[in-house]
Amino acid sequence: MIRAIVYGAMGRMGSIMVNLIEAAEDMELVAAVDAFSQGGTVLKSLLEVTDEADVLIDFSHHSLTSDLLSWAVEHKMPVIIATTGHDQGEIDAITAASDKIPVFHSANMSLGIALLSDLAKRAAAVFPDADIEIVEAHHNRKADAPSGTALMLANSIKEARPQATFKLGRAGMGKREPQEIGIHALRMGNLPGTHEIIISTDTQSITLKHETHDRALFADGAMDAARFLVGRPAGLYDMNDVIK
Ligand SMILES: NC(=O)c1ccc[n+]([C@@H]2O[C@H](COP(=O)([O-])OP(=O)(O)OC[C@H]3O[C@@H](n4cnc5c(N)ncnc54)[C@H](O)[C@@H]3O)[C@@H](O)[C@H]2O)c1
Repeated sequence: MIRAIVYGAMGRMGSIMVNLIEAAEDMELVAAVDAFSQGGTVLKSLLEVTDEADVLIDFSHHSLTSDLLSWAVEHKMPVIIATTGHDQGEIDAITAASDKIPVFHSANMSLGIALLSDLAKRAAAVFPDADIEIVEAHHNRKADAPSGTALMLANSIKEARPQATFKLGRAGMGKREPQEIGIHALRMGNLPGTHEIIISTDTQSITLKHETHDRALFADGAMDAARFLVGRPAGLYDMNDVIK
């Protein structure tokens, strides 16, 4: 039985996560924590958690990541950072913590996106001169743009094309640079998330597209991540490790 703490438990993703854990036969909810809790069954702080746990799952806000990691390191607790929008200092804190505890960090917890990322990298290598653009679409409440997933896909392509540069949006005068990866964000309605990678030469185009139908997808992926992470040595893991 995997004993889990959910952080950001009152949010859209956190509440789905709590429900999935409570319904799972191999997992148990030790604590639901949210900084905006007004009392009741949801704790306000990790400092209030008294029961033993095997994993901490974070779907909260990137500004809380460093404090959350300090607590996880102190308690030697494997942690899944599913939150997005981190700045470089927060990314550095994630990397530093992974020297001491197992840390799973993925801007997109879906297995389908991990596969898309792998396919995009392969396509970029097979067509080294093709123009590549990424278009993502999300609901109108999303705080960060472009999405963490779009940046993750661009970084995956960059592994096959180290000289690639990222161009966020496109406006004004000036032609496209050959090794540029254009990244474009749409914000509309209640879309749970679409990512499209277009790879185009002078004679053909390939489009790789992933559509999220239900946000439960990401919580499902976090469950897979928890099953993968518990019992691993300290290190930094992501969804690519799960599909290997
Ligand atoms: N990795 C993935 O696959 C994936 C998928 C969906 C969402 N996300 C990310 O997960 C995070 C949560 O998404 P959501 O849609 O559930 O958001 P949400 O706003 O519905 O929930 C976030 C929760 O964190 C808490 N919180 C937010 N800002 C805070 C702050 N400044 N201080 C203290 N507490 C704060 C809120 O109380 C809320 O309950 C976001 O970063 C989002 O981008 C990741």
